Amino acid sequence: METRSERGSRRVFLIASLSGGVAWAAALVSGARAAMACGGEGAVTPPQTEGPYFKPNSPARASLIEPGMVGTRLVVEGSVLTADCKPVPRALLDFWQADAGGRYDNAGQRLRGHQLTDDAGHYRLETVVPAQYPGRTRHIHVKVQAPGRPALTTQLYFPGESANQRDGIFDPKLVMKVRDVEGGKIGAFDFVLRGG
Ligand SMILES: [Fe+2]
Repeated sequence: METRSERGSRRVFLIASLSGGVAWAAALVSGARAAMACGGEGAVTPPQTEGPYFKPNSPARASLIEPGMVGTRLVVEGSVLTADCKPVPRALLDFWQADAGGRYDNAGQRLRGHQLTDDAGHYRLETVVPAQYPGRTRHIHVKVQAPGRPALTTQLYFPGESANQRDGIFDPKLVMKVRDVEGGKIGAFDFVLRGG
């Protein structure tokens, strides 16, 4: 049984295949919107530990790609939503992650950046796939904050990783929908913030 999101991913892949080697960015523009995560059971995005590598004052940028950066290109995109499915414009998302070698930049701001959702509550991050590192499966850290609200600190995970089951804090509710496209991958995830 083919789901709506699977059809969406196939369309993205087709666009990527037709438009050649630099297609990944174009494909991502057309990108697969994650199915709305709100409204179902367990809808609110669970928090996770910040871990030891957060740094304040990340640069404002939607792309963490820098010249010479190695690794599989990855776009993560989706929406920030309230628990009753309303998009949250101008929500702050602050991402930080390990590089393709499993290292964090603790001296500078490499692979760190923040952005605001657009008027429709959408975000789009351009980055590379982080490597796993000792004790942790592959993941991306993020803080998500609606205007005037407390920040949600959590992490995003990748599907099909054997290390997921060996990671003590892995949560299947935080697994992105990840699709291969020419030149990289697209991850989709909608954050659903607790109301009140
Ligand atoms: Fe980490």
